[in-house]
Amino acid sequence: MAAEIIAVTQQKGGVGKSTIAMHLGAAFHEKGKRVLVVDADGQNTLVHWASASSGDNGIPFPVINLSEAGSQIHREIKKFVADYDIIVVDCPPSITEKVSGVVLLAASVAVMPTSSSPADYWSSVGLVKLVQQAQVMNEDLRAVFLLNKTEEKRMLTRELKRALEELGFPLLKTQIPTREAYKQAMALGQTVLQMNDRGAKLAAIEVRACANEIAALLP
Ligand SMILES: Nc1ncnc2c1ncn2[C@@H]1O[C@H](COP(=O)(O)OP(=O)(O)O)[C@@H](O)[C@H]1O
Ligand SMILES: [Mg+2]
Repeated sequence: MAAEIIAVTQQKGGVGKSTIAMHLGAAFHEKGKRVLVVDADGQNTLVHWASASSGDNGIPFPVINLSEAGSQIHREIKKFVADYDIIVVDCPPSITEKVSGVVLLAASVAVMPTSSSPADYWSSVGLVKLVQQAQVMNEDLRAVFLLNKTEEKRMLTRELKRALEELGFPLLKTQIPTREAYKQAMALGQTVLQMNDRGAKLAAIEVRACANEIAALLP
């Protein structure tokens, strides 16, 4: 069976694409899937993250850098589909580049992280158009929003949820709050699934719940 491709994409930087891509990879790996994580962003966040671990407690699945492939990236990704069950692609922030568009043509699911800032909402509007264009060719593509860096008791979050849903794609039930553990994971070259403090344990529950919701969307 060929791997299912999960594209993590958003027009803006800093919304948590890389954080979510790596943690989705970790959650699917934990489920026993053969996981490949592809860094498609020239910032190479995931490649640095995977090499940040000093010991043998690092990222337990391969992370490869295909950002150089540019608009040919889907061809490079296709070379790996026979050897994996899940390929998670961390897309670059700009949709003016062709990269996100071609990855979406090959993907089963697009995960669109957004925080509760209006700027993220506006960038989601542009992204929705790109996803809809991809769906003309790739009819089976599913797309979901994922609220990241949420703060409790924020009015804005409630308003934003409604606005996002009106854009026509569902919002995952699981939300990812702002937690130090996500930052620490990146610095330690690990994911929250490997960490033991209380924050990381709560984060691990969220990450697994997110992956389960996404797994349910896969064919
Ligand atoms: N839920 C979260 N809680 C705390 N920090 C987060 C969370 N999500 C992302 N971050 C931090 O925000 C910054 C940007 O996240 P990153 O995943 O690199 O975003 P992007 O790939 O969209 O640019 C990083 O420092 C990351 O550790
Ligand atoms: Mg990134």
